[in-house]
Amino acid sequence: MEVILQPDAAAAALLVARVIAREIRRQPKLVLGLATGRTMEAVYAHLACMHREEGLSFAACRTFNLDEYIGLPPEHPASYRQYMNQHLFSQVDIDLQNTHLPDGTATDLTAECAYYEHLIVECGGIDLQLLGIGHDGHIGFNEPMSALRSRTRDKTLMRSTIEQNAEMFAGELSKVPYRAITMGVGTILESKRCLLLATGYEKAGIIAKALEGPITSRVTASALQLHAHCTVVVDYAAAATLEETEYYRWIFENEPEWQNF
Ligand code: GLP
Repeated sequence: MEVILQPDAAAAALLVARVIAREIRRQPKLVLGLATGRTMEAVYAHLACMHREEGLSFAACRTFNLDEYIGLPPEHPASYRQYMNQHLFSQVDIDLQNTHLPDGTATDLTAECAYYEHLIVECGGIDLQLLGIGHDGHIGFNEPMSALRSRTRDKTLMRSTIEQNAEMFAGELSKVPYRAITMGVGTILESKRCLLLATGYEKAGIIAKALEGPITSRVTASALQLHAHCTVVVDYAAAATLEETEYYRWIFENEPEWQNF
């Protein structure tokens, strides 16, 4: 795992967007794993800007989102499909047919989850998986105690996650679905590269547990320590309680990947 420290949230989001842009330019048919949440909005804004101003093209990309609420139709304003349409898909030249999210309205959820896994394999697997982190350490909607080998499945959300995400439902807790379909931890770990972004003091405690604590299903992001190519980008606020910051800075200054980046 490689940890990159950036002074603030804006710089961290820009760096993540530039990593994604570089991968798309290297490999236009990139299979991109996407995440939702407030943290990602700045990343998508940068990618949209790179499309407009630098000609970054998503035309050949295929995308798979991590998760979707169960019971919300794609046209629901708080669905992750709408989030993606608003923040990224409508802003770039991606072919919507190449964008995938689990179908939260499927009547047979088990079949839908198996189909989602099948689609990922059919596309050759995810090349680059973008990740945020929940306050309870979740990646996707892999809540505490999710098996570290779990696959795409339906999951009941923690109360704290429902509260964290209530903003998208005008703050009304009763409107937030309490179940979602999510890629499993095992599914995420099969991506060729993982790229996690976390910003702000409120993420500092969970980031320290995920990055420097033991690997445990209580903090599913800690499973990323097992990934052969995982980059974590944090701002100074989210890095506030990390212990190895000097070492992370040294690596960033000396790793060839980041020279002249
Ligand atoms: C939701 C998503 C997660 C995401 C998290 C972070 O719970 N399912 O994939 O990491 O939000 O949200 P935020 O960036 O708003 O803190």
